[in-house]
Amino acid sequence: MAPLLFLFLLMIPVSNAFLDVNYYDETCPNAEKIIYETVHSASVSDPKVPARLLRMFFHDCFIRGCDASILLDSTPGNQAEKDGPPNLSLGAFYVFDAAKEKLEKACPRTVSCADIVAIAARDVVTISGGPYWSVFKGRKDGTVSRANETINLPAPSFNVTQLIQSFLQRGLGIKDMVALSGGHTLGFSHCSSFESRLRNFSPSQDTDPSMNPEFAETLKKKCPKPNKDKNAGEFLDSTAATFDNNYYKQIVAGNGVFGSDQALYNDYKTKWLVEMFADDQTLFFEEFVASMVMLGNVDIIEEGEVRVNCRVVN
Ligand code: HEM
Ligand SMILES: *[C@@H]1O[C@H](CO)[C@@H](O)[C@H](O)[C@H]1NC(C)=O
Ligand SMILES: *[C@@H]1O[C@H](CO)[C@@H](O)[C@H](O)[C@H]1NC(C)=O
Ligand SMILES: *[C@@H]1O[C@H](CO)[C@@H](O)[C@H](O)[C@H]1NC(C)=O
Repeated sequence: MAPLLFLFLLMIPVSNAFLDVNYYDETCPNAEKIIYETVHSASVSDPKVPARLLRMFFHDCFIRGCDASILLDSTPGNQAEKDGPPNLSLGAFYVFDAAKEKLEKACPRTVSCADIVAIAARDVVTISGGPYWSVFKGRKDGTVSRANETINLPAPSFNVTQLIQSFLQRGLGIKDMVALSGGHTLGFSHCSSFESRLRNFSPSQDTDPSMNPEFAETLKKKCPKPNKDKNAGEFLDSTAATFDNNYYKQIVAGNGVFGSDQALYNDYKTKWLVEMFADDQTLFFEEFVASMVMLGNVDIIEEGEVRVNCRVVN
């Protein structure tokens, strides 16, 4: 029982004084319905959409807080966040354009792009078989987006100490870090994000020893050297279209795609959480929801603008 007790101690509830689940009840009562319908129809026609929109929320909140800085386009004088280095799997920006266009018709200048990002992330989790939760709303949109700030995102080569540090800088704890990493139950990675684990890993080891050797062989076949296919890669878990706890089971089996995923099982600070989430999907869902709410609170702007077009400042 000790680990469970510890888990509760890590779950210090943090409410946000500015955000409110009923924020648009009077001003735009159909806001969430409009967003859901747009996200749902896009997900049906393009199966890549759910993973992309979930990752978008993470990137948005980790750079300058949840302010939709990820949606701003580059301008002649400024290279924006979306054009920064780790933008390989970013995409599906058109879904936000479509949702925003409908929202501007239904209730002009009311629903922020930052809230659309947060609501869409919840919707894709639910659509993929994961939990539903009430999203806190009332974020305002930022006016700055810089490509060079993506350097502050955690890298797939990070060890647990570095991952903890990166999340702690945003007010997110160890449990949040492990639960949110469960977002890798959806989606795909290009070879470049995990290739260093497959060959010439260290002076003494060719492949990363934390990796299941059979899985290493599978990945080597998917990512041959030289590689002509720039789209080559691997799904982040074996049920990549379903939001479930299979990601944690894969890590226990040594089949984590990124070093940062596998590391969670090889450090005592996080191993017990991986084991608990692998054993109990209901617990994972509860903790994922709580941590997504925390992620949605990172450095939110209380005063500011509601962009009319999510790609440009007003
Ligand atoms: C813990 C630190 C994290 C690291 C180091 C990390 C790193 C990465 C990398 C390198 C990719 C693949 C990019 C590519 O090569 O295409 C990726 C994909 C993805 N990440 Fe993470 N990530 C982290 C946390 C998160 C969080 C917190 C979420 C959401 C809750 C998330 C959701 C996703 C999703 C859904 C994809 C798949 C995207 C797609 O298929 O289009 N990640 N991540
Ligand atoms: C990623 O960044 C490059 C330039 O760094 C840019 O040409 C490309 O369009 C970006 N991809 C997306 C999906 O924004
Ligand atoms: C990014 O570039 C701006 C100037 O364009 C600079 O002020 C800022 O310190 C840089 N940030 C990082 C993280 O390098
Ligand atoms: C984690 O990585 C950092 C940077 O490479 C390194 O300084 C540190 O010693 C590593 N920590 C552990 C516990 O391996």
